[in-house]
Amino acid sequence: MTELVEKLYRTGDLTDAELSALITAEDDEAAELLKSRADEVRRKYYGTKVFLRGLIEISSYCKNDCLYCGIRRSSRDAERYRLTKEQILACCENGYSLGFRTFVMQGGEDAYFTDDIMVDIISEIRRRYPDCAITLSLGERSRESYRRMKEAGADRYLLRHEAASEKLYRKLHPAELSLENRKKCLFTLRELGYQVGAGFMVGAPFQTVDDLVCDLRFLQELQPQMIGIGPFIPHHSTPFADEKGGTLALTLRLLGIIRLMFPTVLLPATTALGTIAPNGRELGLMTGCNVVMPNLSPVMVRKKYDLYDNKICTGEEAAECRGCLQRRIESAGYTVASERGDPA
Ligand code: SAM
Ligand code: FES
Repeated sequence: MTELVEKLYRTGDLTDAELSALITAEDDEAAELLKSRADEVRRKYYGTKVFLRGLIEISSYCKNDCLYCGIRRSSRDAERYRLTKEQILACCENGYSLGFRTFVMQGGEDAYFTDDIMVDIISEIRRRYPDCAITLSLGERSRESYRRMKEAGADRYLLRHEAASEKLYRKLHPAELSLENRKKCLFTLRELGYQVGAGFMVGAPFQTVDDLVCDLRFLQELQPQMIGIGPFIPHHSTPFADEKGGTLALTLRLLGIIRLMFPTVLLPATTALGTIAPNGRELGLMTGCNVVMPNLSPVMVRKKYDLYDNKICTGEEAAECRGCLQRRIESAGYTVASERGDPA
């Protein structure tokens, strides 16, 4: 198995059969080599830098009903909230003083946040913080909406494709959502000049190794600047409450493979990874990740952005998460970069 890691390191690609073999390899020696090769490549382009993205969870209302998600529309016991413009700006102010130079506004697909409202918020953040990147993660919207928000000052957009295999996409989503539209949104965002992030959950119910190869092939086609992957974690009030979650080992293997296939990509060690293992994010950083996304949302709404069970960082103030992450990053051998963190 180590020869597959070396081939991937040398050439940046493998055949489908080789990728499948590496994804499923439960081989400690190969895992160690993958980790060190992934780290070598991340250091080549980014040194020891880890970029911080301040995550502001602007709404827990969602019109969609994705089967895995704790804030899906039919989750009756989900607590709903939305932040006001003033609250969002206060998060940015706090974040800026903590050294964040990227703000990520993420939320469910909430009709309240019309294009006019988003343009107003984005323009104000752009005016106040000309040196910061503005990232959006608001799901599927129209081309016109993406265009207007870009014009108002947004730079980046995170929209995980979730599953590039039609068969798996169908099992994870209700009939009214389509993979075709999801992909179309991603290509539109790219055309409009956004830095684009795609990605998927690792170990989602029904996911096979062929599905994961299909995800990697789709990422090769899209060539996004950012790739967000994290383990699937069940949420107790969804149809997938009793399904198994994604594992640390599989997530780390995929992170390492992604770093070798996409040497300059911005790759977060996600909160979900930190949720399934106490040192998950540190291990992610040591396996090619170069981004972390501390939570900047007001503490009183944190628990309500309840995507999966036992989510970490729901009781901490932004400054506490910032301090905690700095210690974690440094303990893993890396340094916090107080900059926008654009792709190398
Ligand atoms: N509404 C936007 C969208 O659909 O892109 C952004 C918010 S959505 C909640 C953010 C991401 O959370 C999704 O892309 C999904 O991959 C992840 N997510 C949702 N439920 C999850 C779960 N149970 N375990 C792990 N990740 C989950
Ligand atoms: Fe939030 Fe550690 S990162 S408490």
